[in-house]
Amino acid sequence: MKGLILSGGKGTRLRPLTYTSAKQLVPVANKPVLFYGIESLAAAGIRDIGMVVGDTQAEIRAAVGDGSRWNVRITYIEQDAPRGLAHAVLISEPFIGTDSFVMYLGDNLLNKGINGFVDEFIAQAPAAEILLTRVPDPQMFGVAELANGRVVRLVEKPKEPKSDLALVGVYLFSPAVFESVKRIKPSFRNELEITDAIQDLIDRGLEVRPHLVDGWWKDTGKLEDMLEANRLILDTIVRRVDGCVDAESRVEGKVVIEAGAVVERSVIRGPVVIGADARIIHAYVGPFTSIGSGTEIRDSEVEHSIVLEGSIISDIANRVEDSLIGRNVKIHRLPVKPSAYRFMLGDNSEVGIRW
Ligand code: G1P
Repeated sequence: MKGLILSGGKGTRLRPLTYTSAKQLVPVANKPVLFYGIESLAAAGIRDIGMVVGDTQAEIRAAVGDGSRWNVRITYIEQDAPRGLAHAVLISEPFIGTDSFVMYLGDNLLNKGINGFVDEFIAQAPAAEILLTRVPDPQMFGVAELANGRVVRLVEKPKEPKSDLALVGVYLFSPAVFESVKRIKPSFRNELEITDAIQDLIDRGLEVRPHLVDGWWKDTGKLEDMLEANRLILDTIVRRVDGCVDAESRVEGKVVIEAGAVVERSVIRGPVVIGADARIIHAYVGPFTSIGSGTEIRDSEVEHSIVLEGSIISDIANRVEDSLIGRNVKIHRLPVKPSAYRFMLGDNSEVGIRW
């Protein structure tokens, strides 16, 4: 069994971060989303992984390398443009050959991993196995209709969904899928949809097994999803304090403080991760916050947020909440008059102010 991770796409819903970074490399609990996917495949015993990459391939290659860190072998497969998930499968045929494979969308997170699904797929040998979960907004996803426990119809982003069962971004395929990806036509969004390819397997009379996931699943394509994924992952961390915490500080609950980090005269209330060489000085870092390495939080309060490497938040009167702050960002109070906001923000930035 091989693995296929899709790491292309433009990540438009996470701009401006994705102007400078691939969406799959935005960290959740200080680790790129993509790494959780690689770990899941490795944990399921999959060693041979194809990584479909697009415009952001240089960064993905730099971050992932040859996969030896996870004891897997990564083969990069270049997609010239985001032409759809089924197109990614089509161009991966030379890599997959006659094997079965797990396809994993690089911005997805599944808390219970995929071992159970892989075992079931190997034992039952259907043409495909799809993972489903109930969602409140099915029109945003591929949606499955079931009858008597069988998949009868799949529709991509239906305007009037017939069920609330969304396709999770992890699929298991036999090589029968290659014929289907060659038979389908581009969709309304001009992409070759994997949902249509799976429907084609059903139309050919082949077995597509549905499997409802019992843990949580997150597609981290948007800010709210990113913060929620951060919350879910932070809930699972184990307390470890390798950095320096002075006697005037309080560190409560599940907190990871990496080596080289300094906490002085502050309150850290977990679950929180604080990266290497971060400096938390006379500050409050509240639940569900990830502070990247080399970041400085001084005379300020941050909660339920993700702050990436090298950023500085200092001397801010109100608590920063529900925020995703990129790399090397500075948010500070100006000592000079007039007392006005002064911004230098990239395209598509968003600032929320309530006073
Ligand atoms: C893709 C699939 C969709 C699936 C979703 C899961 O959507 O086309 O069927 O439900 O991933 O994340 P996209 O992220 O391309 O909008």
